[in-house]
Parts: sequence; structure tokens; C-alpha cells
Amino acid sequence: MKIQAVRGFKDWLPEDFAKYNYLINLAKSWIKKYNFKEIKLPILEKTELFIRSVGEVTDIVQEETYTFQDRNKDFLTLRPEATAGICRAVIEHGLYVKPKPLKFFTIGPMFRRERPQKGRYRQFYQIDVEMFGSVHALADAELIYMLDTILKKLKVSAYELHLNSLGCKNCREPFKEALKGFLEDKHTQLCADCQRRRTLNPLRVFDCKKEQCKTVLKDAPLITDYLCEKCKEHFSQLKGYLKELNITYILDPYLVRGLDYYTRTIFEVIIPGIGAQSAVAGGGRYDNLVEMLGGKPTPAIGFAIGMDRLLPCVPEPKERERPFFLALLGEEAVKEGLKWAKILRTNGIWTEIDYRLGSLKSQLNRANHLNALLVLIIGEDEIKQRRAILRNMDTKKQIEVPLNPEESLTIIKQQLRGE
Ligand code: HAM
Repeated sequence: MKIQAVRGFKDWLPEDFAKYNYLINLAKSWIKKYNFKEIKLPILEKTELFIRSVGEVTDIVQEETYTFQDRNKDFLTLRPEATAGICRAVIEHGLYVKPKPLKFFTIGPMFRRERPQKGRYRQFYQIDVEMFGSVHALADAELIYMLDTILKKLKVSAYELHLNSLGCKNCREPFKEALKGFLEDKHTQLCADCQRRRTLNPLRVFDCKKEQCKTVLKDAPLITDYLCEKCKEHFSQLKGYLKELNITYILDPYLVRGLDYYTRTIFEVIIPGIGAQSAVAGGGRYDNLVEMLGGKPTPAIGFAIGMDRLLPCVPEPKERERPFFLALLGEEAVKEGLKWAKILRTNGIWTEIDYRLGSLKSQLNRANHLNALLVLIIGEDEIKQRRAILRNMDTKKQIEVPLNPEESLTIIKQQLRGE
């Protein structure tokens, strides 16, 4: 029997990496402009960390984590997200004594045992960005602007930025009570999942995609009507900054997000039309989480880009490097070719040789297959005359160049640049 990858876990093959690297490099270049520093954390954490952060009664912790008991009886979980681990590291290494704001980003795999479908995997990759130490709405605006810029620079089209405020503890409790009251006599109209959520974590009912629940919620109380003065002020300040920055957003009072730690600002980037899993990034403020995990009170905000979902929406990057190909005919040419390859590669040029060393025709076919722009042909005559033939595969033009890589380097570089 053939052994196949585990359901919901997918392979990344070489052809996936042109876009993958393009996305990572572009995102990193912007993230670094804001002085975020890269960190890497274990993919395995104590289960307790996620129970206390993501929330015990969230779908993620209740049903979607890969949790197991280690041989020494510790409960361990493959991280379903990065925020909790970053907070753990900030506390563990006492990082909050450093000048604020502290800015970190990490890129890596997350694990959620969700039902696999298009855009939903059990191992998926996030670019996660977190900022600690500022409560000001300016921090929220900067972060949202950075995310928006990355999406624009990637030329992702037709995305929507949904924005809401969940308020603080003071405004959330009365809202939860009002919502519970509203849902009480609608129990039978809700789906089975929401019937459970209604008592355990009523806000999560807003996350339900089922029409029957959406219909019930049309007249539900909304968190934005329950914000205290300070939260209202924070939200309107943020909206003011976003206007200043010309960022288009959709105010979405139904947006709640699936993790319990959020306070005040939350946002999600949706690309309508890519299927049921249309959220390509999400984030928000979590001003109480560091303290909840045993650290000093430290306001924070962050977001994560879901790379698996975003990548299909990123247009193929235009500039793809093309190789230089050495067509070598005869043993003497092979020895000469090795010298050329060494010098070309030392000069940063991607150089290919066909190790089968077949006829000129088959070597040119191989060069075509590799999409080489230039081919240098070296045969017996070329060795005798110390001249080689440089062929441009696009124009089919051939010129003679000295059979000396150092002497021919300038012209090769010019042609590779399309000059
Ligand atoms: P999240 O909304 O759970 O937030 O995930 C962020 C993004 O990860 C989603 O928008 C989606 O693109 C991607 N994603 C989530 N689950 C899957 C899946 N099963 N398959 C493929 N992609 C998926 C967080 O994880 C928060 N930690 C974000 C954050 C950072 N909030 C504050 N700081």
C-alpha cells in the first residue's frame, strides 16, 4: 500500500516557491521598514498556554488542536497560532524591559485539526507580526497600514478590510449579557454548534456562516453600541488615522474573530470569491493577554497573514531569473566549461550544464526547457580558435566571444540584463 501525506497536510513542491519567496521577501522588506525583528519559536508548547490565551471554549482549543500527552505526562499542543507563543517568550525572556514598542515577526507552520477543504489545511503557514507596549490607536493604524501596503505591493486585487472594535472588559460584559438575553428565546432557531456557543461563548455565534444563524442575528445587539467612552474614543481615533492614510475599510459590527484574547480593534482581510475560506489575514489588539499569561500588564496588537490562502491570489511575479546554459561538445569542452561555470556562478549567474552531454540539438532542447536566455556553445573548433558562440535563445542571434570567461563576463551580464 502506498503511504500518502496525512489528510489536510500538503507538500510544497519546487514550482510553488517562486511565489512563496516573492511573498516572503516582499512582506519581510516592509515589515523590516517598521523595525520588526524576526524570531523563531518552537511549534510545540504546553497545552495550558493555548487554553489560557486562545480560550478554553473556542473551537480552536476545544476541537482543533493536536494535543497529546508526552511520556512524562505533560500535555503538549502543536501551536494553532503564533501570538500565544510570542507572548510566552516575551514573558519568559523578560523582553518587556526593553524600550517599547517591542516589535516581532515570525514565519512558520501552524496546526489546526479543522475539516480540510479548499483553503483550509491542518498544517498551514502564517506570517505573524506582533507589537507590544503601545495602547495608542496610532499603533493600530500603523500596523493596518503595513498590512494594507503589503497586499497592495503584492498586487492582490479586490480585497476587503473588515474592521470592528470589541471594546474592553468593561464594555464586553454588559454586551455579552445583552446578547445572551437576546439569544435566549431563539435557541431552537440556531444551529447545533451555536446552541452550544450561546451559553459558553455567545460572541462566537457571530462567526457562524450558516444562513439560519445569520438570520437570527440580524436584530441582535451589536458590540459597537456598548463601547465605553474610552473604547469609543480609541476606535474613532483609529478610524480618523485610517482616513488620513487613505485606507478603505468596511465597518463590520458582526466581526468577532475566533480567538478569545482580543480587546478593542479587530480586523480581517477578506477576498470575496475565493471560496468559503476567504479570510487571508486577521488580527487585532490583545491588551490583557500578556498579563493573563503571568507577565506585566502590556498592551499589544498584531496580525497574521495566511500564506496558503493568500498565495493563489498573488499574481505570478514578473521578474523570474533565467539561467545561463553551457552547451559542451567533447571532453576538452567539458573541462573548459567547468572553468566557465565556476566563474559565472562566482559572479552570481545561475549556470546550467546538461550532464548527459548529448548532441548540440539535445543540449539546446534542454536549454529551452530550462528557459535559458543565453547559451554558450563550446566545441572542438571553438577550443582551437579560443572563441565561443554566445546564442541568445529569444532572438536566436549568435555572436562570437573570447573563450575566456573573465573577458566575456561584461557582455554576458549586459545581455542577461537585456541591454
Ligand atoms: P486567525 O484569523 O486565526 O488569526 O488566522 C490568521 C490567518 O491564518 C487567517 O486569516 C487565514 O488566512 C489563515 N488560516 C487560519 N486557519 C487556517 C487553515 N486551517 N488553513 C489555512 N489557513 C488558515 C490568528 O491566528 C491570530 N494569531 C492573528 C493575530 C496575531 N492576532 C493578533 N496577532
